Amino acid sequence: DAPGAQMTLHADRPGPVIDRRIFGQFAEHLGTGIYGGVWVGPDSRIPNVRGIRKDVVAALRNLQVPVVRWPGGCFADEYHWREGIGPRNKRPVKVNTHWGGVTEPNSFGTHEFMDFAEQIGADAYISGNVGSGSPQEMAEWVEYITAPAGSLADERARNGRKAPWKLPYFGIGNELWGCGGNMLIDYAADVTRRYATFIKVPAGTRTMKLASGATANDSAEKNLVWTEGMMRKAGDVIDGFGLHYYTFPDGMRNKQSATEFDEASWARTIGTALKIDDYLKQHIAIMDKYDPARRVELAVDEWGTWFAPTPGSNPGFLQQQNTMRDAVVAAVTLDVFTKYGDRVKMANIAQMVNVLQAMILTDGPKMVLTPTYHVFEMYKPFQDATRLALDVKSSWYAKDGWSIPAVSATAARAKDGMIYVALTNVDPNQPAPVTVSLAGATATTVTGRVLTAPTMQSYNDFDRPQQVAPAPFTGATVANGTLTATLPPHSVVVLSLR
Ligand code: AHR
Repeated sequence: DAPGAQMTLHADRPGPVIDRRIFGQFAEHLGTGIYGGVWVGPDSRIPNVRGIRKDVVAALRNLQVPVVRWPGGCFADEYHWREGIGPRNKRPVKVNTHWGGVTEPNSFGTHEFMDFAEQIGADAYISGNVGSGSPQEMAEWVEYITAPAGSLADERARNGRKAPWKLPYFGIGNELWGCGGNMLIDYAADVTRRYATFIKVPAGTRTMKLASGATANDSAEKNLVWTEGMMRKAGDVIDGFGLHYYTFPDGMRNKQSATEFDEASWARTIGTALKIDDYLKQHIAIMDKYDPARRVELAVDEWGTWFAPTPGSNPGFLQQQNTMRDAVVAAVTLDVFTKYGDRVKMANIAQMVNVLQAMILTDGPKMVLTPTYHVFEMYKPFQDATRLALDVKSSWYAKDGWSIPAVSATAARAKDGMIYVALTNVDPNQPAPVTVSLAGATATTVTGRVLTAPTMQSYNDFDRPQQVAPAPFTGATVANGTLTATLPPHSVVVLSLR
């Protein structure tokens, strides 16, 4: 095998549109994901707009986040929305029993979340409480958010918001097979049917109802059996179906350091992340059986790396650093999502700020952007771009029993008319020479950016925020219908052709 990859890009073979919602995010009441990371309160010395941090909003606006899922996660099935409205000093202080047993002041509720979503320019995806709430509670929450008139709309107006909000996505609980109620699939499918019945929005508006999906990390009952049962028994009443997949390279119960790892762990992590390809194929095959028209959308509404918590942090806060390894996981996973773009319409990385594979880390007034943030930023041209067929013949990167295609890629024609090619070199040791024959397109110039770092363990922190940051890429040329590039070891490159 020659090292690197040989590709043919078929500009005349457009595929599905890469739904911008696959670049969605997830923000849960967990650790400092909301409190401290997003919400500091209007009296804080940290610059804020109505209590929401300005620096975090600016960074997220720059990412063009299409959709944000809230308030959980496991927190969703313990959350009672009425406790999070009205004057903040009158809201009950609860205990976040699932995440660290810390107090939950309820200062960040429906109004604050909707304000946040509007400030960052994202659509709202709210997960309702099925596990410990009633259909009535859920129905009233939806009415409170969306109704133009009636006593709940009046109450909303008294609380500061006259106009109804848009609520494009509503989740019927979270992980009903686990923290959402430990249900078995037949019961969960019945419950999903029942709750879905009462999610109603005003005429002329629409809320997509998403069922709590399977976990590709667990036993068949919570995995393929779950998807089969939910599609068979409730597929007709839902518009979307969630799926969770976390990258636990050493198993769920044996999490290792996010920053101190060797090359074997690098290979295992990327290899484990890429298993999502096969999982998606299997779940999509089941969905196709019950929904051949592909009406029901598959949403990977939680995904990302899950390592041991940062030493010294509260283990219930799921705080972890984010290295070049996370950047590569992000890029190769996004490439897989684009591949299944005619069924996978949404994905929400876990999570937005300070939790798991975060985009942003904060500490008091300080903020830093992670390598994963930069991948999402570099992939912006792929939002709503038309995927182009790309035949890839890659060499293999092999380590410690893992064999992984050395180069991962996505090509698309963006809304600006230009062709973009994302190329990731998974190999942490060798550069990857890439040649791309351009069929059906002529290009004379290529420009691009690269994300790489001194080592595969490199990360950004408050003292060194630019260890892993995009830089102009000068290693590509285009001539006579062929694009050539040499990707540095452990790098993500995005090229634009004109
Ligand atoms: O993202 C952290 C947790 O992982 C979520 O709360 C839950 O849905 C999943 O198990």
